[in-house]
Amino acid sequence: MKIYRAAVIGCSRMGAFIDHEVTDYKAIVLPYSHAAGFQVEERTDLVACSDLRLDVMEEFGELYGVAKEHQYTDYREMLEKEQPQIVSVATQPEHRAEVVIDLAKHGVKAVYAEKAMAASMEEARAMVDAVEENGVFFNLGTNRRWHPGFDSMKSIIDSGDLGKLKTLIIYSNGTLFNSASHHFDLVFRLNGDVPATWVSAHLPNGDSVVKDQIVSEDPAGHGIIQFENDVTVYVMLSPRTSEWEAICERGSLTCWNNGWQWQLRRQADVPGWRRCLVPGTFPEFESSSSTQNLIKDLVQALDADTVTRGGIRVAYASMELIFAFIESHLQSGKRINLPLVGSELRLKRDSAPRQPRFSV
Ligand SMILES: NC(=O)c1ccc[n+]([C@@H]2O[C@H](COP(=O)([O-])OP(=O)(O)OC[C@H]3O[C@@H](n4cnc5c(N)ncnc54)[C@H](O)[C@@H]3O)[C@@H](O)[C@H]2O)c1
Repeated sequence: MKIYRAAVIGCSRMGAFIDHEVTDYKAIVLPYSHAAGFQVEERTDLVACSDLRLDVMEEFGELYGVAKEHQYTDYREMLEKEQPQIVSVATQPEHRAEVVIDLAKHGVKAVYAEKAMAASMEEARAMVDAVEENGVFFNLGTNRRWHPGFDSMKSIIDSGDLGKLKTLIIYSNGTLFNSASHHFDLVFRLNGDVPATWVSAHLPNGDSVVKDQIVSEDPAGHGIIQFENDVTVYVMLSPRTSEWEAICERGSLTCWNNGWQWQLRRQADVPGWRRCLVPGTFPEFESSSSTQNLIKDLVQALDADTVTRGGIRVAYASMELIFAFIESHLQSGKRINLPLVGSELRLKRDSAPRQPRFSV
């Protein structure tokens, strides 16, 4: 059994310590952070780490057994000395593209990069080029793509049992880079990664945070996404957090409370009520860690030289929706056709890294 050498760049919350924040949250099956995922996964060996913050790396080393001589403030030096085969990039989006491009050019064969993909469309395109030219297996950390509950939802949609998929609803989109990056990837996944053709959107605080092509804070946004196969997504900003719905011709599938409840409703003729939707049975599924599933997907791709469930083009597609939402807002909600061309927007926040929780 081949064991792959893994390393983490960006050793803060999602890179290493977020597990400590979610121990009492049943929506998340541990391991959740990249490092915890590599530690639990039997096919990977966590050999090194890199961060600009020495104190964070020191705690990382303690928790994951990575000795000081394998901790690097310069990730390029880490690549030279450690020759990892799978590398995580759990930095903020403003510090993602350069690192991922360097990894690809250095010959790293598999990359697990956090969402959102990048800070501009120019960066995202450069990442696509570098990853494809160097044959890198790539997965973006949009965890629900590897969540077995959404696998079940997708299987029912694909089976045609409820008729054709017509509509998807994101109940609470949140901020575009941080939260919508997850939701947009999920609707792509549920709709079979069919391309989107246009979006129309409004950002409630867009006027104050986007100036001269600079996005100085992560803006929330709501709107509509139209897919090539006539499926429409209604993207809401409602207080119903972490809930999604897929509406088919003869039934609907809903995830409530970030996976606490799953509901299937099926069309039926009910005496006195004519045709209506009645509760059906959402299939049982076995919970598992989406982070570990994502890592296993990279391992499988490395083993068999096959594509991953995510991939750089899938990551690019949801990146495009984020910037198309902002462009639409700037043009008073105008329909923005996809592929997105000419966007010069750039996310550039002035924020310090967050302090990770070193213990539970
Ligand atoms: N998938 C999820 O559910 C989930 C959850 C939380 C965060 N995230 C994502 O993970 C990413 C990181 O979030 P966070 O809250 O852990 O961020 P953070 O700001 O706390 O940490 C980022 C770390 O990257 C380090 N860093 C920056 N540039 C670097 C470089 N060149 N070399 C080495 N290290 C570098 C910083 O020093 C910092 O420690 C974000 O994109 C965020 O959206 C995803």
